[in-house]
Amino acid sequence: MSKTKTTYFCQNCGTQHAKWVGQCSNCKEWNTVVEEVVQKEEKRNWKSPSNAQKIVAKPLKIQEIELNTEERIITKNNELDTVLGGGLVKGSVVLLGGEPGIGKSTLLLQIALQITEKVLYVSGEESQSQIKMRAERLANINSNCLVLTETNTQQIFRNVEEVEPEVLVIDSIQTLYTNNIEASPGSISQIKETSAELIKFAKETNTPVLLIGHINKEGNIAGPKILEHMVDVVLQFEGDRNHTYRILRSQKNRFGSTAELGIYEMLSDGLREVTNPSEILISKKDTDLSGTAIASTLEGVRPLMIEIQALVSTAVYGTPQRSTTGYNLKRLHMILAVLEKRAGFKLGAKDVFLNVTGGIYIDDPAIDLAVVAAILSSNQDIAINPDVCFAAEVGLAGEIRPVPKIDQRIVEAEKLGYKTFVTSKYNKITSKKHSIKLILVGKIEEAFATLF
Ligand code: TYD
Ligand code: MG
Repeated sequence: MSKTKTTYFCQNCGTQHAKWVGQCSNCKEWNTVVEEVVQKEEKRNWKSPSNAQKIVAKPLKIQEIELNTEERIITKNNELDTVLGGGLVKGSVVLLGGEPGIGKSTLLLQIALQITEKVLYVSGEESQSQIKMRAERLANINSNCLVLTETNTQQIFRNVEEVEPEVLVIDSIQTLYTNNIEASPGSISQIKETSAELIKFAKETNTPVLLIGHINKEGNIAGPKILEHMVDVVLQFEGDRNHTYRILRSQKNRFGSTAELGIYEMLSDGLREVTNPSEILISKKDTDLSGTAIASTLEGVRPLMIEIQALVSTAVYGTPQRSTTGYNLKRLHMILAVLEKRAGFKLGAKDVFLNVTGGIYIDDPAIDLAVVAAILSSNQDIAINPDVCFAAEVGLAGEIRPVPKIDQRIVEAEKLGYKTFVTSKYNKITSKKHSIKLILVGKIEEAFATLF
């Protein structure tokens, strides 16, 4: 029996320390370092007798390797299937992270109830009757879903042997503990150990495992970073709790692209898949209010039309205020500076508020031109025609820069009934047959000349 060894882990970021410290040297949090029991590792190098066995796996030339496509289980939840790259790969381990109350348990329970395969839903957080209550709010109940309240992995595996599920769901990894080590549930070593056991189980039995993970103050999945390296897929469920929309993003996917994205709406009877996100993100299409502009953005590989709202007003207090929701504040400062310097708009003494509707954060620089349009529309108090949409990046010299995947954006705008599309003249537009009117501009001044 190996001797037990203890070490110190930060419970916030998972950093290991040689001795106890008051403040974690990595994440700078106070009082998060805790002593944990870890099993003494056996020293073994590649020459040791235990490794000098018969060879099991042999290296092969890349041409000799046979390609066997992974088998996938279709979850019947289109958004999730897309984000996973075409369904749940057998034997894969998927980690789903997100803020408390965002709907992780709801999403996975809903999937467990929809799927035709036999599912074992293990919860360490809610009792069977609580889960039943939640399930009753959700539609279509599948008789193939079994629910278990358990936190001990050995017990879970005993049950798994008995029911032989085709999909295993764990809510959440932080509540589990294994008898093999002494640390308390939720501690770094327990998370590491229990997830290693689950990963081993998934690989050996070819059963997919869906894990829910809590996130820490920085928005990362609580526990060791190594957890994210160990699993096959890391998904993040995000959104603003005050809004009903939720976004499922993939941060890592060994079986598909991480550019895919799923959108849901949280309703009283569970999460509804949003198949045409553009329509819901645009509040009122036919009002002629100043200060709004429609941007064509790409979220992952999917084009999305969003509404940008700006409010420009004379600053009542000394220092003008600038604030944004869903857009980078530094980028707004840059755009305001470009407008002052290159286009002669005096915005220095004005308050500027900017909002991306729908409560989602947009990273795509292609919304710059719509931001500019919304600001100027509010400043001049002239409404922009609601049939117009924008897609271009604004450079420091006031130049209108091209954006990737322009054809896709144009097609999406056209499909949704927009009549005019304003973009950079430097774009390489390949498909020529558009019924939508294209306005191609090279400088910020040209864009306004056509608009106001
Ligand atoms: P939950 O899945 O428990 O969140 P998480 O597991 O991420 O902590 O979701 C909690 C919220 O979702 C809760 O505030 C209530 C709401 N909700 C609905 O709006 N509709 C529903 O059908 C369900 C089940 C929950
Ligand atoms: Mg939950």
